[in-house]
Amino acid sequence: MKVFVPNQSGGGETRVALVPVVVKKLASATVEVLVESSAGVMSSHSDDAYRAAGAQMVGGDGWAQADIVLVVHAPTAELARQMRGGAVLAGMLAPQRNMELIQALAQQGVAAMALEFLPRITRAQAMDVLSSQANIAGYKAVILAAERCPKIFPMLMTAAGTLQPVKAFVIGAGVAGLQAIATAKRLGALVSAYDVRPAVKEQVQSVGAKFIELPLETAGAQDAGGYAKELTPEQQQKQRELMAKVVIESDVVITTAAIPGKPAPKLIPADVVAKMQLGSVIVDLAAESGGNCELTEPGQIVQKHGVTIIGISNVPATVPFHASQVYANNLANLLKLIVTKEGTVKIDPADEVIAGVLLCQGGQVVHPRLKEMMAHA
Ligand code: NAI
Repeated sequence: MKVFVPNQSGGGETRVALVPVVVKKLASATVEVLVESSAGVMSSHSDDAYRAAGAQMVGGDGWAQADIVLVVHAPTAELARQMRGGAVLAGMLAPQRNMELIQALAQQGVAAMALEFLPRITRAQAMDVLSSQANIAGYKAVILAAERCPKIFPMLMTAAGTLQPVKAFVIGAGVAGLQAIATAKRLGALVSAYDVRPAVKEQVQSVGAKFIELPLETAGAQDAGGYAKELTPEQQQKQRELMAKVVIESDVVITTAAIPGKPAPKLIPADVVAKMQLGSVIVDLAAESGGNCELTEPGQIVQKHGVTIIGISNVPATVPFHASQVYANNLANLLKLIVTKEGTVKIDPADEVIAGVLLCQGGQVVHPRLKEMMAHA
């Protein structure tokens, strides 16, 4: 069995699907790991380190040889065309944006697996690439804010006077938000946070932040899967009004509010940004899905009313060594589900995890949500 890791560096991507420590665990008498030359260089993993871990360095011909191709993001149609029928392609394939590619893969007989569709159940946690990458993004959001903030984060009592700690406010306390809280706290900020799911309050407090209570009726704001439900336009308006005071008083605001499959809720209107103190910083991690702040420009760092608004995309790619390491562990755990001891691929569509991620197999698009999206495209 041949597992291939292509070089996907470029265009802002720096991560790689497998890192040497994980290759070492995978490479065996039955599993051969092929890595494209320089695939790990941008994440600080040399070709020599891969060789030492048991990988074979190859060129682009790995696409045609592989039984399983592991990617960070969807490949171009040209590369995907080289894959063999019956081979597996797994990674963050962004199926909503790549429907034509998925159709083509299906026709080729490739089994494509989009890890963004993994169900958020306990058994799937070890494969949850969205969580592993959001964790890294939550950490880095605070570092980006600290770099742009004209104040230092911790309180300092010096002979030259006392400096007050930075006030940081984190909106949305899911995976990225909780890591942002913990990171801001470690840097010495006074941290508060808000989330529509009341169940999150305890988690927020356990990582050291004050939970902001808003007189907003959100008891039903969580669905059966533990995700937030979209608020009504009236509730959203009320939330914006109630939160404005906290936003205005904060030096740093990190926003991570997201509803699966929906555009990001707009929580910081332009007039609130205009009232923030000069030099304040907003890091909008939801920029790619439209942004939580009205003035965010996706992919950009902008100054508005003296406030720096950071909407850069692919934040995990700015910490590629560790982002790749946790991603590689996620993929290695997926391989445990689909590779047999004898070194053959066995995809069981009855398995809840596999059913969640499997887009196409045996010449057909099989994913119900994707089929529905394709029908309406
Ligand atoms: P998550 O689903 O774990 O957390 C989102 C949180 O937002 C949930 O706790 C939810 O209850 C909360 N929320 C929803 N509506 C809200 C509202 N109106 N007010 C306050 N809270 C609200 O998601 P995760 O994994 O933490 O990701 C957060 C965001 O960061 C997503 O938009 C994700 O796409 C983005 N992200 C961005 C990256 C980048 O490079 N820019 C990298 C990783 C994640």
